[in-house]
Amino acid sequence: MSINYEREKQELTRRNFVSLSGWSIFTLGLLGAGGLFARFFWPNVRYGPPSKFSIGKPGNYPDGAQQTFIDQKVSVIRHGSNIGAISLVCKHLGCTVAPSATGYDCPCHGSKYDAIGQVTHGPAQANLDWFGISLLPSGDLQVDKSDIRTVSAYYGVK
Ligand code: FES
Repeated sequence: MSINYEREKQELTRRNFVSLSGWSIFTLGLLGAGGLFARFFWPNVRYGPPSKFSIGKPGNYPDGAQQTFIDQKVSVIRHGSNIGAISLVCKHLGCTVAPSATGYDCPCHGSKYDAIGQVTHGPAQANLDWFGISLLPSGDLQVDKSDIRTVSAYYGVK
């Protein structure tokens, strides 16, 4: 009886190839499933802009100034030696209010606020929030949107 070694070697190679392919597909599937499982533990959080942001030097705001930081939805006003940061988020349903000749108007349902954010016309029932302001060591002012204050929470500057 003679053995054809070449044919046996060829069959082993084919078998190895099929086996290797099978294990490769299995490993890739396992890695994919593991990746999806690991992704399950990653929070689905959308990160917004930081709550604290610099608004520059107090000298940038002359008496009577009003500057809007639309990306932060904050309006900075100065009355005399006092600076305030007013939220531009309407207290009705959260639309962004726009500065107007009399204060702030909401384009969504018509709420109106006076120049310091007090509601003058509904449907909003509450005044606009004010935010805390602090002085950084660099001399810049910083607004902290996580520090919510009531109306007229001015920061005194020289
Ligand atoms: S969201 Fe401003 S009035 Fe409704």
